[in-house]
Amino acid sequence: MAGRFKSDLNWSDVTPKSAFLNRRQLMAGAGAVALGSIGGPALAKLDAAPSKFSTDAEPNSLEEITTYNNYYEFGTGKEDPARYADALTTDPWTVKIDGLVDKPGDYAFDDIMKNVTLEERIYRFRCVEAWSMVIPWAGFELADLLTRAGVQPGAKYIAFETAVRPEEMPGISRGYLEWPYREGLRIDEAMHPLTIMATGLYDEPIPNQNGAPLRLVVPWKYGFKSIKSVVRISAMDREPPTSWNMANAREYGFYSNVNPEVDHPRWSQASERKVGGGLFAKRQPTLMFNGYGDEVASLYEGMDLSKNF
Ligand code: MTE
Repeated sequence: MAGRFKSDLNWSDVTPKSAFLNRRQLMAGAGAVALGSIGGPALAKLDAAPSKFSTDAEPNSLEEITTYNNYYEFGTGKEDPARYADALTTDPWTVKIDGLVDKPGDYAFDDIMKNVTLEERIYRFRCVEAWSMVIPWAGFELADLLTRAGVQPGAKYIAFETAVRPEEMPGISRGYLEWPYREGLRIDEAMHPLTIMATGLYDEPIPNQNGAPLRLVVPWKYGFKSIKSVVRISAMDREPPTSWNMANAREYGFYSNVNPEVDHPRWSQASERKVGGGLFAKRQPTLMFNGYGDEVASLYEGMDLSKNF
């Protein structure tokens, strides 16, 4: 794992977005000391600090990340979210936190943001459909918010729900899924430092099609676990129902850890297509836990991952 994480540099400290990729390649061998002398004023609007958890893999462009999406509330086409998600009202926004917590309530998004530390997390992102991207999120650790709400010892799982706004979301009236979109994590997964609530992308507030104003990101699991536009977080003593598992339990398990050895019933998960690579790009091998095994494999010790898929 050593060498895959960078720890010295937040791209936005040194360069505008448009120059990011070239500058970053140029600087690859230069080291942190030299970078200090190059950096101008920080351009980051969100001012997210760099993180040791970021990958040094090449990020996808903003264009790719914001025009090839899954967000079924806005339709099932990859371009539907970019086309229709502008209609979603994201301000004001409240997140209900309830269940087994000491401080249940409706938390205003602005208030949540005042009490968390934003970091840039450049994560690999692997969709169950066998495409992948590398995405520079800005966000905070979900554990920060859960700790603030006072998760009680009896809580074994955390459940999440997306907003349901039929007037703003043209996909709601079509029965693609049972709404609200729901997801869930085991408590140790939810408290893991890799698990974030993303509120930004390329140092701008996260666009609606990517799940504004805040969405879960769990980088070692298939993308559908990373639920968008969260309005409710519930601490529970039992495993919550989750949307894709409810729709087809044979194909989508609760865990949905990225695993090249456990195929989807209808396709192989051994390799993936990185979005933006072009028509003739070689597929790349899919990594166990999407490459985050050193950090998370211990969470699943003793479990049969082909049964708990
Ligand atoms: N969240 C909601 N509410 N609705 C969705 O349809 N799609 C999921 C996940 N979160 C989805 C969702 C799937 S299948 C994937 S791959 C990712 O969002 C896609 O995230 P992206 O569009 O930001 O790449």
